[in-house]
Formats: sequence, C-alpha cells, structure tokens
Amino acid sequence: MARRFPKGPGTFSFLRGMFDLSYTFVDVAKQYGDPFSFPTPFGPVVVTFSPEGNKAIFSADPETFAASSADALSGIFDSSVLVTHGAQHRRQRKLLMPPFHGARMRAYGNLMRSRAWEWGSRIERGTPFVMVDVTQNITLDVIIEAVFGVDRSEQVEAFRGEILALLQSFSPFVFVKALRRDFFGLSPWARLQRHLAQIRTRVDALCQQYRTAPAGRQDILSLLLAAKDEDGNGLSEKEIFDQLLTILFAGHETTAVMLAWAFYCLHRDLQTLQALQAELDPLAEQADPEDVARLPYLEAVINETLRLYPPVHIIHRRLLKPLSIAGYDLQPGDAVAAGAFVTHRLPEIYPEPEKFVPQRFIDRSYSAFEFLPWGGGARRCLGAAFAMYEMKQVIFALLKRYRFKLLETGPVGFVHRPGTVGPKGGIRMQREA
Ligand code: HEM
Repeated sequence: MARRFPKGPGTFSFLRGMFDLSYTFVDVAKQYGDPFSFPTPFGPVVVTFSPEGNKAIFSADPETFAASSADALSGIFDSSVLVTHGAQHRRQRKLLMPPFHGARMRAYGNLMRSRAWEWGSRIERGTPFVMVDVTQNITLDVIIEAVFGVDRSEQVEAFRGEILALLQSFSPFVFVKALRRDFFGLSPWARLQRHLAQIRTRVDALCQQYRTAPAGRQDILSLLLAAKDEDGNGLSEKEIFDQLLTILFAGHETTAVMLAWAFYCLHRDLQTLQALQAELDPLAEQADPEDVARLPYLEAVINETLRLYPPVHIIHRRLLKPLSIAGYDLQPGDAVAAGAFVTHRLPEIYPEPEKFVPQRFIDRSYSAFEFLPWGGGARRCLGAAFAMYEMKQVIFALLKRYRFKLLETGPVGFVHRPGTVGPKGGIRMQREA
C-alpha cells in the first residue's frame, strides 16, 4: 500500500524556498494546514506547527530519532554532538553541559560586557554601520575566549580570522557527498579541508599545552580535556575537536543574529526601547551581571525577538522508529520537523502575531511546544542559558553606553547565513552618541 503523507506544495517550492525567503512556511501552513509535507532533494519533510504536533516530536522517546544533520555533516564532524545519537549523544551532552550553566557560565558576564563595549567603541559616531557585523565580532570574541581561555591577544585575532574563513568555506556543495573531490585543491571541499587543517593545528597545540598546565583552568577546552563519564572515560581528541568547533559555530552566529534583530525591533518601536531604558536606568554601568540577568523586561524583549525571528526556523529530525503525528503514521527514514517560525505566529497563541510586544512574555508564560526557539527534547539547544545570559549582558552594555538610530526604512527580509536565517543586509544603523 502506498505511504500516506500529508498534503503540501509541489517540487519547485523547494527551489522557491531556497531563493525567495519571503516565501515562508507561514504561507504554506495557511494553504495546507497542520501538518504539511515539504519537498526536499532528500525526500519530503513532514512539518508540524501545532503545539500538539511539536509535542509529539519533542516528547517522543529520544531513541526515535537520528540527528537530522548526520547526513550533511558526516565526513566533516563525525563525532559532533550535532551528528551523534543514542548513548553516545547522551554521554557527550552530559560532559558538555556544565560550562554552559550555573556559576561557570556566570563567570563570563564581565567578559561579555567588556567585549560589547570594546566593539561598540569602534563604531564611529554618525557613520552608518551594519549591526550584525558588530554583534558577530562580540559573540565570536566571547566564545573564543570562553572556549580556549585565550585572552585578548594575537591568539584571538588569529582564531577569529581562521574561524570566519572556515565558516565561509561551508558552501552548499560540501554537504553533497558526490561533490567531495579535491580537483587540484580548487574545489569547495578542498578549501574546507585546508581551513579545517589550519584550525586543527592550532587546537592540537593548545591541547598539548593545556594537558600539562596546572589544574584549575576554567576554559571549556580544559574542562573537556579533564571531563570523565561515570566509567572514568574521557573524550577522544577527535571528539574534543569536533565538539569545540560545534560550540564555536553554534555558539556565536545564532546569538549574533538574534542581537541584531533585537536592536532592530527596539529601534523600530521606540516605545519598547523607552520601556527597556526605564528598566536599565537605575542600574550603574558596572552593575553586577547577575542583577542584569534578572531584569524582567529585558528578558521579555529577548523572548519576543526570539519568537518573531528564531534563527532556526524549523527543527528537523530523521526517524529511526515509527512516529505518529496528527494521524499520519511515519516510518523509519522519514524526516519530520517542528515549524517554530509558524508556531510563533499562530494568532490563537500570540494575538497580533506580527507585532513586537515584549509585554506578552510578562503577562503569561508559554509551553515548550508553543515557544520553541531552542528546539526541544533530548537535543534542545545546549547553549540556551549561555546565549540568554550573553544577549542580556550585551544589550545592557550597548544601550547603557551608546545611543543608536535605525537606518532601515522598510521591513527587513531574511537571508541564509551559515546554519541560521538572519536579517537581509544585517540591519543598518548609526551611532548617535
Ligand atoms: C540565540 C542563540 C541560540 C539559538 C536561538 C539556538 C538555537 C538552537 C536550536 C534551535 C538548536 C537545535 C535544537 C533541536 O534540534 O531541538 C540548537 C542546538 C544546539 N545549540 Fe544552540 N542556539 C543558540 C546559541 C547557542 C550557543 C551560545 C551555544 C553554545 C555555546 C549553542 C550550542 C548548541 C549545541 C551544541 C546544539 C546541539 C545540541 C544537540 O544536538 O544535542 N547554541 N541551538
């Protein structure tokens, strides 16, 4: 008997979706309802966006899924937490989690703020600039320093250059296994390998150095080198390298994009900016990062930005076991996704969904199946607490010391960035004071 998939748009909508990012799943959802099938070169993805559908995915037994990025990233980051599943994935998460929570995470508060001030001071007054470039420099510095424990020095500069070059070498061609050829060193695959080798040399040297360093270092690399599971086993060198790169990528681009959107939303709706400034005013510039982290309106501003512009629009899974969604019995091999972007615009959950209304996050709370910028279940974003903390410190630092003006005059569209969907043009602004 033929398999039954939900209805959805035809083959060409995949190409349209790739090139025309104003064609969002909101249009498709309106036309086909929940769930719908969306065509991709790897077969249809069943996309759900109702809280019930999201719940079916996020509360299923974790053994139901393989990582969706496993196909694309295998051969590049085989042992990354993004690729592994089952017991190996659980073990890696357990070892990786501590630096991104609690006191260890909070120790980065002052670093986050001082990098924001440093890059803010480099913006010339009265000259247009692109916000996402500034926020990317901030978040990249923070993650490099947190991960490697290297402070402001040529090391950070060198890492920044190499990581950005590596990011840029992730063209769509490197994910297609048939195109992974050297072609005399000229192919995208060859370029990717060169950049990976360059970073590997630098990381290997740091590993050597840190293995023999006195105990007590708090950087993520040292913590990973020392980490042991309950059987006393640590991570292999390859596992450490793959996790470090995963953290560097996952940990700066998303946060940078979200910060740029937050500045856009606040400066497009000056009432929200004033409300936030009223909350920040009583705090001194050097206030305890913990006091900043507790500000309710600041948190609501970030949540509302994450609702409107989640940097990951849909959260994919590949089935290893059968799963039923809204009466559709899906089978091993099928792809499913929770459509965060669409869920976040359901008017029955978020009245006037296109409006930026931080207050809605103060007036009520939303379930993990209604508000899902961090994904969910066993693969929920490992850096969510770290990212929230960083966004709070950076927004606080920049708004406390500087004044900005938005130069965008109309709505800002979307653009694909490495691993995320970000604002087209990066949000043009000007520093006023
Ligand atoms: C605003 C910032 C961020 C957003 C919106 C975000 C969002 C996400 C999403 C949607 C996922 C997929 C979750 C799923 O499949 O259910 C994810 C995974 C992940 N994120 Fe984040 N992220 C952010 C920042 C960070 C930071 C700062 C780090 C690390 C320092 C990080 C590390 C990771 C890792 C390691 C994973 C893979 C988890 C796994 O597969 O088990 N992210 N993130």
